[in-house]
Amino acid sequence: MSPLISQPLLVLFTGLPGTLKTYISCRFSQRLGCMWLPSFAFGNIKEPENENSLQILRTTRYYRCIDTLKTLSLLSARVVMDGGFMDPILQHQVFACYSACPKLLIRCEAEPDSRLARLRIRASDAMDVEQASAESIINSPTTKIKIDQAVPSNTETPAELGCDAIIHVDTTHFKWHIKGTLDAGLQEKIAFALEHAFNEFRATDKTFGHDAVKRNFADLSPCYEETTEWRTNTTLLAQLRVDLPKRACNVLDIGSGTGLASQWYTEQGHNCVGVDLSPQMSVRAAPRVLFSAFGSALDLPFFDASFDLALIRQMLHYTEPTLALQETFRVVRAGGFLVVSAAIALSDEVKPIWEEFKNVTQPLRLRVFSEADLIKLIKQAGFAVLETRHNNLIRSESFDQLEHRTTAPGSGWVPFLRVMEKIFAGLAPQLEFKVNENMFTYRQYWVTLVAQKPLVNH
Ligand SMILES: C[S@@+](CC[C@H](N)C(=O)[O-])C[C@H]1O[C@@H](n2cnc3c(N)ncnc32)[C@H](O)[C@@H]1O
Repeated sequence: MSPLISQPLLVLFTGLPGTLKTYISCRFSQRLGCMWLPSFAFGNIKEPENENSLQILRTTRYYRCIDTLKTLSLLSARVVMDGGFMDPILQHQVFACYSACPKLLIRCEAEPDSRLARLRIRASDAMDVEQASAESIINSPTTKIKIDQAVPSNTETPAELGCDAIIHVDTTHFKWHIKGTLDAGLQEKIAFALEHAFNEFRATDKTFGHDAVKRNFADLSPCYEETTEWRTNTTLLAQLRVDLPKRACNVLDIGSGTGLASQWYTEQGHNCVGVDLSPQMSVRAAPRVLFSAFGSALDLPFFDASFDLALIRQMLHYTEPTLALQETFRVVRAGGFLVVSAAIALSDEVKPIWEEFKNVTQPLRLRVFSEADLIKLIKQAGFAVLETRHNNLIRSESFDQLEHRTTAPGSGWVPFLRVMEKIFAGLAPQLEFKVNENMFTYRQYWVTLVAQKPLVNH
């Protein structure tokens, strides 16, 4: 790939861990044809013993980095640096040591509980970065870095930092805006490289949180059916039934778990196939299906148009729903059916609080849906929605279970208590939230959507 620019350039990426800055800075520099300097190249500052030793480590690190940059500046090198969270004085020093050329600060910011921030991503061929959520870092008792002083506010100006422009990048929504002035040609190239890095992330990261999902279901598999009411609830299971032609039809259960959704179809004589990301769960589905495959909903190991019906129960929130439904559309035959069943936010008004509640009680979820969200996604994939079925039930959980889950990044007692305050202030009466000794209960709302792939593709 030929470099986009030929002039010397210094670009400094900053942001909390978990903001994807390593990934984006690495890809961005590749596209621009720049040298990429990871922050760890200047020494590790993880787990310092105390505030004092942290300060020494940070100062040593930045002096090393400044020395390196001075040399590179003499060589007129194009440099992109993954600078971690450096305070404004250090950023100023970094820019000052580079000779006259365009200098740019890119601040990556993710929403504190951003799902994206939790991904384990491959940042370069040489390293694997475990991305913790920003909030977990801020709340962690072992975090000794003063976040508020390390991450300056949006009010800073390029002049204060001695650079030409500051780009604020929102890595939750992949939006960005520029402050300051850059040569129009360079700005265009930078925009192109940034978009390229985003697109690459979107396209290659098909493993959205999947490692954690796999581990979770591996642990859960022996007691999956006993631990929560909805899973074996017969009314909910009966809502998955659609009339199929009177022959042995091919049914695909995507995210099959232990095969509960398929059981009735198998009993009716249909050929059910389960596919699940977790081998431990797929094994348990085997008695309820014709065969149980291990695979991802984003890359189904089946030919086009090979199924009369696809079932997706309580799985889309763990993955990228648009891609998963596109894949489903591909493997369902024209005129074939799709049944999607999920616990949902009862309305768009309660969605934010439901989302907050689910984020802390089920940190592996990537998102929550309302009925309208699901209908939109299903239609976007090309299916026509035929029928909507509703249900609700009381779900109970123990605080012990919660304690177990709150070890996940982004969760914890502090966010849990924060959302509890809102619930007890009456902001989500539909949840009917109650605490009973070591248990808490709430009403869970379900929707089951029956859809069909059109006979003729428009
Ligand atoms: C809550 S369980 C639901 C299982 C089953 N559908 C049921 O109704 O009991 C979610 C299942 O989806 C699986 N899963 C999550 N993400 C997946 C993906 N991207 N592709 C395939 N399976 C996935 C999990 O391993 C887990 O078994």
